[in-house]
Amino acid sequence: MTSLDRRTRGRTAHGRLQALDAYLLHAERELLTRREGDWARAAFVDVGFGEHPWTTLESAQAFREVNPSLPVVGVELEPARVASAQEHADALTDFREGGFALPLRPGETVRLIRAMNLLRGYRPEDVAGIHHTLGGSLLEGGLLVEGSTDTSGAVGVSHLLRRGGTGLVREALLFHTDFSRGFAPVLFRDWLPRDFRRRVKPGEPIHAFFAHWMEAWNAARAAGHLEPPEAFHHSVLGLAERVEGVMTDPWLLTHGCLLWRPTGGVFL
Ligand SMILES: C[S@@+](CC[C@H](N)C(=O)[O-])C[C@H]1O[C@@H](n2cnc3c(N)ncnc32)[C@H](O)[C@@H]1O
Repeated sequence: MTSLDRRTRGRTAHGRLQALDAYLLHAERELLTRREGDWARAAFVDVGFGEHPWTTLESAQAFREVNPSLPVVGVELEPARVASAQEHADALTDFREGGFALPLRPGETVRLIRAMNLLRGYRPEDVAGIHHTLGGSLLEGGLLVEGSTDTSGAVGVSHLLRRGGTGLVREALLFHTDFSRGFAPVLFRDWLPRDFRRRVKPGEPIHAFFAHWMEAWNAARAAGHLEPPEAFHHSVLGLAERVEGVMTDPWLLTHGCLLWRPTGGVFL
């Protein structure tokens, strides 16, 4: 354990991170499939898989549809969770005890790190250091996904952080909903990544972002777009006119995803 790692609860659920898998398969196919040089054996590492490694195994299956030889490593602080996951290990799938300084073996490389629903018990001021520690294990061009979802995965928000030549870049925020809880921008507030959780207050950039989204959502509803998927779709189009970096790719809009990728990165 490093001074950043903390023991936390291990609840998870089947399918909780499926929407994120679908997004990554859509938007990051090259990242998942690159094979030149060090990328040939570069793993997907799932940090903090929880009491059961369901989400790790589900993602392994999904990503191997496009990269059948993808190595997958599940990492957990709790030794008992690692021990009980061993029954699912195979030639390409490993479960290891460890923390943010990933327990990699000599010669192993990493293309994608996921750290979902881990940081609620951590201090917001430690998040940047945690990102930095995790990102240090990525190949250049690799991606760190860190964020939160509700217990079933119906609503979630994730940081997408890319390892560049000079370090980790806070590239984008990904909001997702499956509409089972209806839709209003405020739905996402409680599921923001740890460093944004208490920052939705006047004067903060994330507060301004939500204010613009509320305005766009109210305009969409006033124009008659009342069903949650339609209201979402039109609110994102309206938000893109108000805020720089809001993506309007039709796949995102029809899959309940809002990708905000402002030039220069996502700042607190
Ligand atoms: C709530 S579970 C999340 C499980 C799964 N990722 C999900 O999204 O459903 C959080 C898990 O992260 C583990 N954890 C917390 N801090 C960690 C760290 N620094 N390194 C590795 N695992 C950690 C906890 O032991 C716990 O099992």
